[in-house]
Amino acid sequence: KDYAIGIDIGGTNTVFGMVDHRGDIRYRGAISTRKHDTIEPYIEELHEALLPAIEHVGGIQNVRGIGVGAPNGNYYNGTIEYAPNLRFQGIIPLANLMEKKFGLPTALTNDANAAAVGEMMYGVAVGMKDFIMITLGTGVGSGIVANGQLIYGHDGFAGELGHTITIPGGRFHPGTGAHGSLEAYASATGVTRTAHEFLDKDPSKESLLRAYPREDIDSRIVYDCAMKGDAISGDIFRYTGEILGMALANFVMFSSPEAIVLFGGLTKAGDLLLKPTKASMEKNLLPIFQNKVKLVFSELKEADAAILGASALVWELKKD
Ligand code: BGC
Ligand code: NA
Repeated sequence: KDYAIGIDIGGTNTVFGMVDHRGDIRYRGAISTRKHDTIEPYIEELHEALLPAIEHVGGIQNVRGIGVGAPNGNYYNGTIEYAPNLRFQGIIPLANLMEKKFGLPTALTNDANAAAVGEMMYGVAVGMKDFIMITLGTGVGSGIVANGQLIYGHDGFAGELGHTITIPGGRFHPGTGAHGSLEAYASATGVTRTAHEFLDKDPSKESLLRAYPREDIDSRIVYDCAMKGDAISGDIFRYTGEILGMALANFVMFSSPEAIVLFGGLTKAGDLLLKPTKASMEKNLLPIFQNKVKLVFSELKEADAAILGASALVWELKKD
């Protein structure tokens, strides 16, 4: 049994790969997560999409198991619990449901934890014993590696840094009820909210963003406009970076990592985001930490860190 299935469940899309022992992804696929509001038809579609992947490696007898990374994933229970950016409500016993559907042992963990494991095994964090993975997508997730190990904590939820409160009394998060969490600012949705706010604050100020229907404005459009020299778009990334950097400084002072690895859709903004984030992080750090912590982007392709990290869980499953 030489192959493992790695699945990364995102708020918008689910991506998966059939992974071999060396960490090479032999077959890839994706389905929409958003489309479904109940779990059974979602698993049904995932099953359909995975059949050719299983065929590709010569059938299910060659597959050891399934590893899943999911928002609000609980490694101890194999459950997804009250994920703020998923339409599936309540507690979903996903690992159990997958085992029943596929007849394969299944392990589940938080999506950002999976990404951290992927970076540690195959990416920029190879050889690092202490680092923090931050994923900037529909939500903001994190995986904290300390002394060579992922922190799970008492309940299995350790490392929900996207929900730490960064701006007291700040933006309301409809998925959690909290005010001012990092995720309300430094996620793709947060950038969109900032864009709306900045456009409304100064309605007479010209901006390339005003050429787009309001509901179409997303982080990619803001990026494109910023690259064309649009002032408001540049400000949006500076503001995002300022808040993100402040949060990262707090995290650095908490666990003294060698590096912070950024991953996910927002990192496509490159230096537009990285520079203000780094400046703000350094400014907010205690001097003993300043100019020591590497702030880097994942170098693995798009979602590969999470797919690889999720698949790696499979090799740790007990052999049957
Ligand atoms: C969830 C995290 C997840 C992150 C990225 C957050 O809203 O609470 O568990 O890692 O989004 O998907
Ligand atoms: Na986590």
